[in-house]
Amino acid sequence: MQSSSVVVLGSAILLYGLSWPCDARGSDAYGLDSGLSNYSFPENFILGVSTAAFQIEGAWNEGGRGESIWDKFLHEHPTYTPDNSSADVAADSYHRFKDDVRIIRDLGVSTYRLSISWSRILPNGTDNYINAEGVQYYRNLFDELAKYNITPMVTLFHWDLPQMFMDLGGWTNPEMVDYFEDYARVAFNLFGDVVKIWTTINEPHQHCYNGYGTDYFAPALESYGVGEYLCDHYILLAHARVYHLYDREFRPKYKGKIGITLDAFWADPLDPTKEEDREAAERYMMMNLARYANPIYSAEGDYPAVVRARINTISQLQGFPRSRLPYFTAQEIEDLRGSSDFFGLNHYTTFLMTPSRMEKGWRVPSSDHDTGVRLSQNPAWPKPGAEWFSVYPPGFRKTINWITQKYGTKVPIIVTENGLSDFGGIKDYARVSYFNKYMYQMLLAMYEDGCNVQGYFAWTLMDDFEWKDGYVSKFGIYHVDFTSPERTRTPKLSALNYREIVRTRRINFDYIVPPKTASSNHI
Ligand SMILES: *[C@@H]1O[C@H](CO)[C@@H](O)[C@H](O)[C@H]1NC(C)=O
Ligand SMILES: *[C@@H]1O[C@H](CO)[C@@H](O)[C@H](O)[C@H]1NC(C)=O
Ligand SMILES: *[C@@H]1O[C@H](CO)[C@@H](O)[C@H](O)[C@H]1NC(C)=O
Repeated sequence: MQSSSVVVLGSAILLYGLSWPCDARGSDAYGLDSGLSNYSFPENFILGVSTAAFQIEGAWNEGGRGESIWDKFLHEHPTYTPDNSSADVAADSYHRFKDDVRIIRDLGVSTYRLSISWSRILPNGTDNYINAEGVQYYRNLFDELAKYNITPMVTLFHWDLPQMFMDLGGWTNPEMVDYFEDYARVAFNLFGDVVKIWTTINEPHQHCYNGYGTDYFAPALESYGVGEYLCDHYILLAHARVYHLYDREFRPKYKGKIGITLDAFWADPLDPTKEEDREAAERYMMMNLARYANPIYSAEGDYPAVVRARINTISQLQGFPRSRLPYFTAQEIEDLRGSSDFFGLNHYTTFLMTPSRMEKGWRVPSSDHDTGVRLSQNPAWPKPGAEWFSVYPPGFRKTINWITQKYGTKVPIIVTENGLSDFGGIKDYARVSYFNKYMYQMLLAMYEDGCNVQGYFAWTLMDDFEWKDGYVSKFGIYHVDFTSPERTRTPKLSALNYREIVRTRRINFDYIVPPKTASSNHI
């Protein structure tokens, strides 16, 4: 089986041709580390902060909330995270949402991106019973935000599926499309008056790849190369269904916007002088970003032809009776095409790509094996936290340009997440520098490359439960004291820096500079 894969991978590369995206300047974008950015964020540009329900709320079994797949998974696998932690309490936002709103206010941002816990509203997942206490929690939160003119941007699904559905196969079950629509209708009816920006799904790729395709995230199905594509497929269809629901029944009344959030690492060639590495990088982007983006944002719709051809061919050579990548019907292609008012983009880091037929740890079949690319990072790039995380600011500009070249400027990009992983500390100079440099690359993409970016959300408001990393890896611009019952929130330097960016709408690289002797960002 592997030797036939070798043959197909060799020839499938040719299917791609060379369509390397280069940015408008044709070289690595320049960076700054001192001075004031000449470019500023336009008046109507959204500057906000992001969180997700499961990572901050806690109160997993309070107020009538039902069980989600992450509750069950963490309770059944107490040593899953390096600190043996769960999210049972997390930042306790269920009880301390007023603290959250206070610090959001302190930042001066206009918009707060949060997610609704499906099982807090519908404890059993289905809409035959609506949990009034859960509804009241979000109503109180939205009221508190409204007092200070902070607009909520709400994600319907940020990975915490009600457990009941997992027992039915989760997103591999086509019926999920109907159930997601039921849930969305409840949410739109309850909160459509105050929530004017919705996203359906957060990062289908990370959710399906890690949760259905590996054991890295809940539900840890390890359905390599099969379940992960089914999950992607029905999540995309569920997204389209809910987009049209909003468009038809709620938009006329509430005049809001609705879209999806996709995650994108940037893929650079390991050796830019090697054509095969450039092709590997482009293939990675097609397999892992365009597979989701093409059905929604491209003129022709559907999965990209190169992705279709590659997975079909490999499936056939592996003896599968049909492609492991499911087909959309003509009607489904139509429903998906254009089903997003914006391109929600989560970006964190960059990997270097070189072609590979097989790597240690890959399964056959799997989407890794289908993609056929070995990932690495440049050891010279700073690596202040999580294993997968390196700092390479130009990758952000390149990602935004790649999306723009593929899908044009008509649909605006809203950066729904961007931020830095470290191991904690209030004096987070590395995070200050990350935000300055990444946001500056975004300004360059806007002003020098003509990309249509209309919003940016820092990930994340405060330290939280970071999935596989538990509470070990931190992304917060506010520190949370997880040892205190109050879960006290304290601004880090990055919060002060972000507040200054929000206030001046520019980046001042000299606003916070590390003392010359500082060698670490720990307290
Ligand atoms: C701002 O513009 C001036 C004049 O074009 C230029 O000399 C300077 O380098 C720019 N500074 C930054 C931070 O881009
Ligand atoms: C997690 O639990 C395992 C098994 O009980 C134990 O060996 C390990 O030391 C624990 N780790 C931490 C960080 O507490
Ligand atoms: C949820 O489902 C369980 C099992 O079917 C049932 O016992 C319980 O009453 C349901 N809860 C609600 C709130 O409908």
